[in-house]
Amino acid sequence: MATISLEGVCKRFGSVEVIRDLNLEINSGEFVVFLGPSGSGKSTLLRMIAGLESIDSGMLVIDGIRAEGLAPGSRNLAMVFQNYALYPHMTVEENMAFGLRNVGLAQDKIKARVAEAARMLEMDKLLARRPAELSGGQRQRVAIGRAIVKEPKAFLFDEPLSNLDAALRVRTRVELAELHQRLGSTMIYVTHDQTEAMTLADRIVILNDCRIEQVGTPMEVYSRPASRFVASFIGSPAMNLLPVTLTGQGDRAAARLGNGAVVPLPFAPKGDGPWELGIRPEALTVSQVGTTKATATVVERLGDRTLVYARLSDGTQIIAQDSGKSQVKAGDGIGLAFDTAELHLFDGQGRAVSV
Ligand SMILES: Nc1ncnc2c1ncn2[C@@H]1O[C@H](COP(=O)(O)OP(=O)(O)OP(=O)(O)O)[C@@H](O)[C@H]1O
Ligand SMILES: [Mg+2]
Repeated sequence: MATISLEGVCKRFGSVEVIRDLNLEINSGEFVVFLGPSGSGKSTLLRMIAGLESIDSGMLVIDGIRAEGLAPGSRNLAMVFQNYALYPHMTVEENMAFGLRNVGLAQDKIKARVAEAARMLEMDKLLARRPAELSGGQRQRVAIGRAIVKEPKAFLFDEPLSNLDAALRVRTRVELAELHQRLGSTMIYVTHDQTEAMTLADRIVILNDCRIEQVGTPMEVYSRPASRFVASFIGSPAMNLLPVTLTGQGDRAAARLGNGAVVPLPFAPKGDGPWELGIRPEALTVSQVGTTKATATVVERLGDRTLVYARLSDGTQIIAQDSGKSQVKAGDGIGLAFDTAELHLFDGQGRAVSV
């Protein structure tokens, strides 16, 4: 188990800046997820920690030891890739043992570690097979097993589930969570899948535009997004972001929507617009006594709840939620109720001002 700390880390590829002055502390035993859109530098950051990519400037400290100059093999980390990277001519057992043979570990120790990892991953019966004789999920488990036998200070995963089908992804995700509980190891996991991030992480690091947008527990980034970007990236369907003008002062502060409706704010905003009011669909419900009128355009029935896509009279699009037994049909006029305790406000720079 290791702490991993990054201080003032920068990285560019030629003229392309990828990471700018990044600071991050990862605690021992923590499951940290790097989440961000494609090209936001998630893999680059992970590969810099692993030593597969150089660091232009800044410090990397693994377990109290300066590591940016260390060769990948001396960092005691194990990486698992999306494409498994198994040796096709070796059996499962040989694939898992390969790294240990290379560092000259005694034969009986290798056998014991491979057997233990195979038992943990329920692969005991597959040890004699070659990768071509395994399913995608089984191959990924071999790759994870190969990481486990190294007994690394930390595990680094780069989108390990991306090649698996939907059902297997969910199953393997749960297995990974169990593995983390059992081993208690530090784990860093890269994904652009917000569900994986929300379900696996102790803390999520949201990367965008060469920097960290926010670091927090899944519920912190969901309930208190620090920026418009985080608000729209986390949650499905995405948070409604409605252009508004502000009226009133102090505890009379309110937001006026494009259709003229006024929504009282539970906080006094400071800063400069143009402003956007944020509200998640589950906090904007279809209601007879709703203060705002809208016209339903599309109704999605999800069984336990219904999503109602609607338009305000000025054309603003919104997504509201109704119960599973909703009677709303496309074309209906509906009322909308805002849960004012669940409002967010974003200033002209996209920063959250609702604290
Ligand atoms: N070896 C390289 N040479 C030049 N540019 C690179 C190299 N590797 C990555 N980049 C660029 O750095 C940026 C970040 O890439 P990176 O692979 O870290 O993104 P990512 O967040 O992992 O994206 P994805 O979700 O698509 O995997 C991208 O603009 C990419 O084109
Ligand atoms: Mg990547």
